[in-house]
Amino acid sequence: MIWESFDSYEALSDRAAHIFLAAARANPRIVLGLPTGRTPVGMYDRVVRECRDDYRCFRDVTTFNLDEYVGIPRDHPGSYYTFMREHLFEHGHISAAHTHIPDGMAPDLDEECRRYELDIANAGGLGLTFLGLGRNGHIGFNEPGTPFDSRTRIVQLTESTRIANAALFEDEQVPHEAITMGIGTILDSKSIVLLVAGTGKEKALSRLKSEEVDVAFPASSLWLHGNVRVLVSL
Ligand code: GLP
Repeated sequence: MIWESFDSYEALSDRAAHIFLAAARANPRIVLGLPTGRTPVGMYDRVVRECRDDYRCFRDVTTFNLDEYVGIPRDHPGSYYTFMREHLFEHGHISAAHTHIPDGMAPDLDEECRRYELDIANAGGLGLTFLGLGRNGHIGFNEPGTPFDSRTRIVQLTESTRIANAALFEDEQVPHEAITMGIGTILDSKSIVLLVAGTGKEKALSRLKSEEVDVAFPASSLWLHGNVRVLVSL
């Protein structure tokens, strides 16, 4: 694991955007795994800003989002579909056919999970995956206890995760379920960049630094991967 620390969220975001764009320039057809949440917003802003005048900047990449809530429509303000449209896709000229987010309203959710795994495989597998870190150590929506060989599936969200993600749901209930890539799916990515920023992440960060690999702490699975970079600004 390669560790990089930054004095500010802005500096972390600059670095993350640089990694994103350098990868897309080196391989314009790269397959990216992409996160949502507050942490990657600065990275996406910078990617969009830098590419504003360069039509080809990242238009040929293929993207797979890590997760999506179950049971809310795509145009819901809290959906990860809406998040990605607002923060990246509507600014990036990427063909809609190249962007993938699990469909949390699919009539057969298990089939949707199988299809998502197949789509990733058919795209050639994830080349570079960015992750955020949940306060309880979750990655994607893989909550504590998730087996490290898990694949894309339906999961129940913990109360703490639902509370942490409540901001975009206003008076509504945060969904109880989500579709998420599994830890096994994420670990199959050729390279991984974990972004650690935001309040309440100190405990999770020190647990990750302890190097103890434990299914009770999903992010510790990253120690089993040979190509992980961790960018930290806390
Ligand atoms: C959500 C997402 C995760 C994300 C985490 C951290 O639960 N499913 O992929 O990493 O939140 O969010 P934030 O970046 O807002 O702290």
